[in-house]
Amino acid sequence: MKKKTASYLPSIGHLKEISHWISSVYNLDQLLELLTVSATQMMKAKASSLLLLDERRNKLFFKVATGEKKDDIKKFEIELGKGIVGHVAQTGEPLLIEDVNKDPRWYREISESVGFDTHSIVCVPMVLEGKTIGVIEVIDRQNHQAFDTNDIGLLSVFADLSALAISKAQQFEKVERENRTLKEALECKYQIIGESPAIRRAISDAFKVANANSSTLITGESGTGKELLARLIHRGGARKNNTLVVINCAALPETLLEDELFGHEKGAFTGAVDKKVGKFELADGGTLFLDEICEMNPNMQAKLLRVIQEGQFYRIGGLVPISVDVRIISATNKNVEQEVKEGRFREDLYYRLNVVHIKIPSLRERKEDITILAQHFLNLFKQERGIPNLDISASAMTLLTSYQWPGNVRELKNAIERAVVMGNGIQIMPADLPISNLSDIKTDFVQASTLEEAVHQFKKSFIEKTLISLGGKRTNAARKLGIQRTYLSRLIKRYNIKIGT
Ligand SMILES: Nc1ncnc2c1ncn2[C@@H]1O[C@H](COP(=O)(O)OP(=O)(O)OP(=O)(O)O)[C@@H](O)[C@H]1O
Ligand SMILES: [Mg+2]
Repeated sequence: MKKKTASYLPSIGHLKEISHWISSVYNLDQLLELLTVSATQMMKAKASSLLLLDERRNKLFFKVATGEKKDDIKKFEIELGKGIVGHVAQTGEPLLIEDVNKDPRWYREISESVGFDTHSIVCVPMVLEGKTIGVIEVIDRQNHQAFDTNDIGLLSVFADLSALAISKAQQFEKVERENRTLKEALECKYQIIGESPAIRRAISDAFKVANANSSTLITGESGTGKELLARLIHRGGARKNNTLVVINCAALPETLLEDELFGHEKGAFTGAVDKKVGKFELADGGTLFLDEICEMNPNMQAKLLRVIQEGQFYRIGGLVPISVDVRIISATNKNVEQEVKEGRFREDLYYRLNVVHIKIPSLRERKEDITILAQHFLNLFKQERGIPNLDISASAMTLLTSYQWPGNVRELKNAIERAVVMGNGIQIMPADLPISNLSDIKTDFVQASTLEEAVHQFKKSFIEKTLISLGGKRTNAARKLGIQRTYLSRLIKRYNIKIGT
């Protein structure tokens, strides 16, 4: 008896091999196959199977099968509770059957149908977090010796390992799924929306320079999307897997900015208790985005120029030069040429930073983007707040497109967010929009070629403005305009005005 037990005790080498699989094999199917085959060999059995429970259908299916009939057997499914396997899956208790022909639970159809002569079986459950997720069964010893309780113990170890492998694979899949969702969310967050030729051109220029190492200067009014474009350039090129480091030059006084950019050595100054790695080093292999570059003071401008020219720098208090491979993108909402002309920005640095120049036009110069952007932000906030049926009323859209947007896309985004929060949850109305300064609503006569046309355009826009200011109340508007309500209705129809009731 003792001798028999010792004959299949796993050797240390065998255990090492199994632990190596568990840590290095990432393909779950392959791992389960290795574990099942290994159990079969160790127990010197003729065949074995690993079955998983399909909880929805209450059926067990063959995930792994070994032995001479392994391919035929995989076509079968076993109902929960049926046969030895179904019984173990249902009760969660292992079974050792010395002679299946004497056991009423034996479900002979599968063995008979594939022509496999079965005598004895050991079957153990695979349990994950207290739930049976499947079973492993081993059939007949090659030397016809009977199975015993040691076999249950050994097979249970393999069942536990298999359950662990399945759990790890499920966790891995979950993390991967989350990772994918996060990446998609990030892509969406940094997506540049716009169909106007001006923004399309800026995007196509960004892709063109993405793979070049040239320093790029992005200009545009505040809130036009300069940082968004810088991120696009970084993501669009070969540096995308390295870091994009953003630093706002206006936010820090000179000494702190220097410390942020170049870092310091331990003990470089009072308070420098540890070494600090600067943004230039952090961006090695990636991109450094210098925002609000015109706010950098002349001393720092000189230091930055030196780094760009020499390709290396010293940490504050450091003696060893550090070389980095950094691509520089800078941005400003100021007129840089003017800053250079007036001596506030170094001309030589300007030329270094401005190898490629991308200008993002203001939102009022690309009015066609307003509707698309408004709709985009609406969808974003609708999703965030779980109000799927909200839309923008025609009158609110007219207000959005006629407003001048001094704060550009950022202001538009904030306006939509406010309207989503403060509105009635069904339709965004002009009153929900934080646009009260009607003098900022510009009337555009540039397309008019005749006086009559200009007069019509003026009338249309004047009526629209009045309606907006009165929350769309047509009777009140007629009174304010000093005309009959019926005449106003005729004008509204003629000019195809969509505001008010
Ligand atoms: N074309 C666009 N599509 C989608 N969102 C945009 C677009 N342009 C700007 N935004 C959004 O508007 C906001 C302002 O953009 P960003 O910070 O890039 O502007 P900026 O030009 O850097 O502004 P500032 O000069 O004030 O720093 C951000 O929330 C950004 O996501
Ligand atoms: Mg910015």
